[in-house]
Amino acid sequence: MMRKYLVALPMALLMVSGAWAQGLKDAYKDYFRMGVALSGRNMTPEQEDIITREFNSVTCENAMKPGSLQPAEGRWNWREADRIANFCREHGIKMRGHCLVWHNQFADWMFYDAQGKPVDKKLFYKRLKKHIRTVVKRYKDVVYCWDVVNEAIADGPGDTPFRKSKLYELCADEFILKAFKFARQADPKALLFYNDYNEVNPHKCERICQMILDMKKRGAPIDGMGMQGHYNIHYPAMNELSEAIEKYARVVDHIQITELDVRANMQHGGDLNVDKKGEAITPEVKSKFEQQYVNLFRTLRQHSDKIEVVTFWNLTDRDSWLGADNYPLLFDKNRQPKEAYHKVLNLE
Ligand code: G3I
Repeated sequence: MMRKYLVALPMALLMVSGAWAQGLKDAYKDYFRMGVALSGRNMTPEQEDIITREFNSVTCENAMKPGSLQPAEGRWNWREADRIANFCREHGIKMRGHCLVWHNQFADWMFYDAQGKPVDKKLFYKRLKKHIRTVVKRYKDVVYCWDVVNEAIADGPGDTPFRKSKLYELCADEFILKAFKFARQADPKALLFYNDYNEVNPHKCERICQMILDMKKRGAPIDGMGMQGHYNIHYPAMNELSEAIEKYARVVDHIQITELDVRANMQHGGDLNVDKKGEAITPEVKSKFEQQYVNLFRTLRQHSDKIEVVTFWNLTDRDSWLGADNYPLLFDKNRQPKEAYHKVLNLE
């Protein structure tokens, strides 16, 4: 109990002194919105204070995914998503909806009939349309954009540019077109995004851009590209990041960094099989970490005419999907701001 006050005391003193009145959202109000991915675990008074001070966009890390919301046909699990959505409603914070279609944490029951046999596309689309309509209409007052399709493009070259998921096996690429149309029908106003990782890689960037152009030709209302931003202390090079932003800007009108973290090892991307060990956080690694965040925000600010929101994936290292040892965020595992936070906050 005592430790909690010892942790909160420095923050309280800083806030009372006004030295910390400004958060990231205020420091970057002339560039882009600052967002954060949250789970129910973040809904405590101490963390809510950090969230409302630092951010003006919120994403549910897992609670709005198909498998989380509708784990079985007609069985809805709104609790965690509603808790976070109601927090955002109370504080006037808009949300990114994440996500409507993804091969991971999907509502896999949609692929099978009552006898466990694979369904045809017609029944699958009927179920998907109902899911998307139900979810999008429930949150349309607070969600300003949706990650409609997540990670549908293959990471490497192959006989198809698409990830060979269950979705692709049943529908080929048509599920992408259908998902965007269903989402548009459910909310004519929301901005609709395609979201992916390793998005800076020139070859994958090209595959994504080609898919977006093709889908838009076929009538998919794709408004934006979600560059996930799962980077590391060595990657990406800033010229590669700039080139990718410029390429996406040629195929969509809206670009966001949707899942930013910078891990202290050589891996990058959103693949789930991560090395949670990370490198020892030596003074050299810490300096590289800080420099990479400074480089990233300097580059993103240079493209603030195209980048509308930058969302961190998780609030603190303690929450990170990468594990705290990867040291990926601006707040450490004790929820204290790192030196990197102050460098980003006060970037010249
Ligand atoms: O909710 C269950 C719980 O009931 C169960 O006891 C527990 C143990 O198995 O698992 C819990 O589900 C976990 C879920 O997170 C909620 O905590 C899943 O196993 C776990 O795989 C899932 O990991 C999430 C991952 O997506 C897979 O969905 C991460 O938290 C989340 O940060 C990560 O986020 C993804 C983005 O959505 C898309 N881009 C890549 C990014 C990183 O993989």
